[in-house]
Amino acid sequence: MQPLDLVKAHLRAEDEGDVAAVLATFTEDCVYRIPAYDVDLRGKEQIGAFYRSMFASFPDFVNETETYHVSDQAIFVEIVTRRTHDGVWRDLPPTGRSFRTTSLAQFPVAADGLLGGEIVHVNPVDALYKIGALPSPDLFQTVRRFRPLARRVALVTGASRGIGAAVAEALADAGADVVLAGRDRAALTEVAGRVRAAGTHVEMLTGDVTDVGACRRLVAETVARLGRLDVLVNAAGGTRRGPALEVTEEDWDAVQDMNLKSAFFTSQAAARVMEEGGSIVNVASLNGVVGNAWAAGYAASKGGIVQLTKSLALEWADRGIRVNAIGPGMVDTPMTEPLQQDPERMARLLSHIPMARFGRPDEMGGAAVFLASDASAYMTGQVVYVDGGYLCV
Ligand SMILES: NC(=O)c1ccc[n+]([C@@H]2O[C@H](COP(=O)([O-])OP(=O)(O)OC[C@H]3O[C@@H](n4cnc5c(N)ncnc54)[C@H](OP(=O)(O)O)[C@@H]3O)[C@@H](O)[C@H]2O)c1
Repeated sequence: MQPLDLVKAHLRAEDEGDVAAVLATFTEDCVYRIPAYDVDLRGKEQIGAFYRSMFASFPDFVNETETYHVSDQAIFVEIVTRRTHDGVWRDLPPTGRSFRTTSLAQFPVAADGLLGGEIVHVNPVDALYKIGALPSPDLFQTVRRFRPLARRVALVTGASRGIGAAVAEALADAGADVVLAGRDRAALTEVAGRVRAAGTHVEMLTGDVTDVGACRRLVAETVARLGRLDVLVNAAGGTRRGPALEVTEEDWDAVQDMNLKSAFFTSQAAARVMEEGGSIVNVASLNGVVGNAWAAGYAASKGGIVQLTKSLALEWADRGIRVNAIGPGMVDTPMTEPLQQDPERMARLLSHIPMARFGRPDEMGGAAVFLASDASAYMTGQVVYVDGGYLCV
């Protein structure tokens, strides 16, 4: 049997209260850890005794819904369980008679096709807070603590490198299923390999966001593949440097289309499908508020992003769609490579940054997760600057 089918058989056997069928899914020497109950069961005998006790205590225990995240090493399942609390069984909170609880389980895939190694079942998640038990680091390398974006679907444009790629990784670490969008399929594939380590579902889409049709297609395809869209991060963008006197109409349009038009039309398409609300995170810049000689078009586009963020926030607040932006300072990405090779400009810039260094792309992830998640539920129309202190000076 395939490992995923084994996990399903395991959960079905739990529903049916069939201890033998539960045990049949495990290797002989597996270890079943349930940190919230302080249970560490070694081998089938102990696991069987545990299950018999549990089924006796909770006769109408039912696994109501399961969400699977499959990686090469393990299958992670988020399980919503409903049961009647008939007896007192250890210190499992809450102690009401009947309750519904969400738990997280990690089932490592053993070599012989069974489930084995260390199975960790964190159950229920909020019990961990109450009893102070810490989950296994193994589990939370993949299923991060409390997964603020679990069961949310995020589309990230500009995900083939730089800030977009790092933001996509951070969203997946926070539990989101992620769709990576860019033009360069090979680069997307490489990023997808890293993002998949978080154990959530990852898809790739190619498209040029200067084409409004492609913006709409990215959104439609996200919904077609993953069923919904909750978070959009507009990270695609770039610049063309040169003295204002030499900027051509084509230069101007290219920068506005890449940075501003793309964000507007992808957001428009997203808002049309975010039926249960959602969060749009634009990527602005210091240049949304600070000028940039030799990059007038870029600074104008980022100023546009700031105003776009506020205007869409106003317009869509009553639809439950929040629109915010992160404002990166100087970040070490392929976009800033030419600048980093110019010692004179670097010295000037670094002297202006209180933290005296460029940011790393992964340092943009925290703000993006914050804005994407309910942690920022009462925020809309804001720009969160992540700039090493640049704007303080
Ligand atoms: N790095 C910084 O210091 C900094 C500071 C402030 C703001 N930002 C902003 O952060 C965002 C990301 O910048 P970055 O530094 O990560 O740049 P980057 O490393 O050059 O990455 C740019 C991303 O945008 C995508 N992209 C560009 N044009 C596109 C198009 N026409 N259609 C589809 N995708 C396109 C690229 O993908 P493909 O090549 O695969 O299409 C790539 O994934 C930009 O909006 C930038 O303005 C950067």
